[in-house]
Amino acid sequence: MPTMRDVAAYARVSVATVSHVINGTRFVDPQTVDRVRNAIDVLGYRPNSLARGLRRNETSIIGMLVPDNSNPFFAEIARSIEDVGFNEGYSVILCNSDGSEAKEAAYVDTLLSKQIDGIILISSGNSFAPLQSILKARVPCVVVDRELGDLAVDQVLIDNEQGGYMAGEYLTRLGHRHIGYIAGPNQLSLSAHRLTGFRRALDEAGITLPDDAIVQGDFHYGGGAKGMEELLRRDLNLTAVFAANDRMAVGAISVLRRAGLNVPEDISIVGYDNIPLASAMCPSLTTIAQPTAEMGRVSIEMLLARIKQRDVEFAPRRMMLPVELIERESCRLLI
Ligand code: RIB
Repeated sequence: MPTMRDVAAYARVSVATVSHVINGTRFVDPQTVDRVRNAIDVLGYRPNSLARGLRRNETSIIGMLVPDNSNPFFAEIARSIEDVGFNEGYSVILCNSDGSEAKEAAYVDTLLSKQIDGIILISSGNSFAPLQSILKARVPCVVVDRELGDLAVDQVLIDNEQGGYMAGEYLTRLGHRHIGYIAGPNQLSLSAHRLTGFRRALDEAGITLPDDAIVQGDFHYGGGAKGMEELLRRDLNLTAVFAANDRMAVGAISVLRRAGLNVPEDISIVGYDNIPLASAMCPSLTTIAQPTAEMGRVSIEMLLARIKQRDVEFAPRRMMLPVELIERESCRLLI
């Protein structure tokens, strides 16, 4: 592998001149620049970006940790982060924790060992330990979507209580009174917030959500299918079901179809996220849309501000973004 010293010898200049040509850190006359660039091409020299980064105490690399990169919700946020990061001269490394605390901790250790400039964390929700490792290493970090208590870190969050309320208000406005709920993973505070808002809307309509109308889900298609099977088994004469994310809503609809039930004629369904599949389904899925592109953009901008002002201490910022009801074909007026 040719080195910078080989390039200098071939171009008949000093190593310092080669460095100035590569990094643009000082004027070099055009003829010398041409000789150096020719030497780089002929020898096939590639600058050691990690060594350069260590000298500058930066690598222009950002790490991003998500709980499930197969879920379009996280993929859309990651895409938005990568778009902005690339345009700002950063490479983004995407790591998938698979919802595993151990895998999440291992990835945090790997990212920290790579001297990355910052981390955007969507937590598996099992532990504060990975975030505490990042904070202890004094690496700039932004927490997105899944709140991690009141730790001193920037957070970009969603008003999930309002999202749950919107779903409940919409269904009760359509006249539904026997409504089921497929809940998100109970270790996530956002799951509790969605249920709280949903209950509040039903309470306002004079409806009590009975405990047996709530089943536990896991944010996967299978969890929605199992939840819907359990609700059908309980024979609650439901006319509507709210699923705490779109993938579970899709799983629920597949079970209804196999049971010979039609959506929305027999049961109306509301999801949460607004993944691309929601609008492509037949019937298309009514859902609570999360602003994934804005979540990504805001989080990377917050992180870059931290990185560029690394020596400036300022209070952690907490951004709460709104959600929106997207009305489609999977719900019907009951009255
Ligand atoms: O679909 C995945 C779910 O987990 C979303 O609702 C999002 O809020 C994430 O936390």
